[in-house]
Amino acid sequence: MNVIKTTGLEYTYADGTCALSGVDFEANSGEKIAVLGPNGSGKTTLFYHFNGLVEPARGEVLVFGEKISKTNIDEVRKRVGLVFQESDNQLVSPTVFEDIAFGPKNLGLGSSEIKNKVSQVLHRFDIENLARKNPSNLSCGQKKKVAIAGVLVMEPDVLVLDEPTSGMDAAGVTDIMEVLDELNNDGKTIIISTHDSDLAASWADRMYILNKGKVFKSGNPKHIFADEKLIADAGLRQPVIVQTYREFRARGISGGEVPLSVLDFMESVDAKVMNIRCAIAASDVLAGDEVSLDIKDGMLVANKGSKGVTGKAVFAGKKGEDIAVKDVASDLQQLAGTLTIFRVPGIIEGGSRAADIEKVREILSKNKHQKIGAMGTSAKVLVNKMDIRCDFEFDVIQSGMLAVLRGFDVCIFASGGMADRAVEKVKERKLKYECFVL
Ligand SMILES: Nc1ncnc2c1ncn2[C@@H]1O[C@H](COP(=O)(O)OP(=O)(O)O)[C@@H](O)[C@H]1O
Ligand SMILES: [Mg+2]
Repeated sequence: MNVIKTTGLEYTYADGTCALSGVDFEANSGEKIAVLGPNGSGKTTLFYHFNGLVEPARGEVLVFGEKISKTNIDEVRKRVGLVFQESDNQLVSPTVFEDIAFGPKNLGLGSSEIKNKVSQVLHRFDIENLARKNPSNLSCGQKKKVAIAGVLVMEPDVLVLDEPTSGMDAAGVTDIMEVLDELNNDGKTIIISTHDSDLAASWADRMYILNKGKVFKSGNPKHIFADEKLIADAGLRQPVIVQTYREFRARGISGGEVPLSVLDFMESVDAKVMNIRCAIAASDVLAGDEVSLDIKDGMLVANKGSKGVTGKAVFAGKKGEDIAVKDVASDLQQLAGTLTIFRVPGIIEGGSRAADIEKVREILSKNKHQKIGAMGTSAKVLVNKMDIRCDFEFDVIQSGMLAVLRGFDVCIFASGGMADRAVEKVKERKLKYECFVL
């Protein structure tokens, strides 16, 4: 179902600047959409139309199938929450608590109900400790979380965020994008704008490219980033992974669909090329020697012999030196480690408080995991509570799977629906895994 739809949308500012000229846009329920465009392409102006902050000069905007009018504007703003690019424009109260309480207060709710709602949202974002602080003293990432919380407290179906990651460091970006993923897993439609191709490529289900107030193209990221000329014409940069792929492809090393992640990229590499691998010689090796391969600390190690996964040394090498090994048995994946996934209850399922900590301790003490990661708020809270140090903070599923392919046993704590997604991805790649529901 369409939650937002615009047809032939046109908008001109009072000084005569034409910001939108004929934009057709639609968002379906449950989608993650990125509107990608350079500065001045019309992203902010488009978003203002989604909850009636401005009226179209021409064309129409439908929200849940209805035109925005005086009679339904309050309902529209309740169902479509807009988070501004500058958090400072959104955060105006003297404390975080009051800021988040602003919307519910305007609805005329009673004070205990307001308190309840605000506490829930604070808990959900793990920012209870910020409740009494002045928003202007918060970090950029914290401000953004509070701004999102202030919108979320109204329980919208659609969250529209204008450049939600601008001005943030890498940890802040990951944190915010994870929050958005969690909300999407809970069924909310999420629409963001960005000028960051890498972010759009790695996050969106579907995207729109905006340029000079027009939609250049829309579709899924694989489809869009496959068109090199289009991206250049739109004044955008290709994602780094796509640039790398194109160079590999030009040299006959990679092929197939455009990859949007490191894992996809590895799959694009020709099997014949992957068949030659670098290994550390465990003893002196002569050219042509048959070697048996093992993985230690993420690197292939070549022992003389013909047991298990085997290959042939291309050149001679001394013990401890890097050597090239060819004719590697294709089942190198049998040297991969195991991924253990702990499914921590999502916030609506009770969060980290509902998790069985003893069960985690028991499993962890039985299996010595070499690397640990956590994704999602409740998983991160649990890991902190248990004083577990994480190796992965970014791109947790992908980093975990890459480490498993390098022979490590990896454990990932994931909140609610994110754990289910991790299981799907691991199954797709046919990696060894276990999943424990806490
Ligand atoms: N208040 C305004 N008055 C006049 N022109 C504006 C105003 N706001 C934005 N614009 C112009 O409208 C165009 C689209 O801007 P905007 O929607 O902010 O793009 P984006 O969010 O993609 O950077 C730009 O040319 C910008 O200069
Ligand atoms: Mg903008």
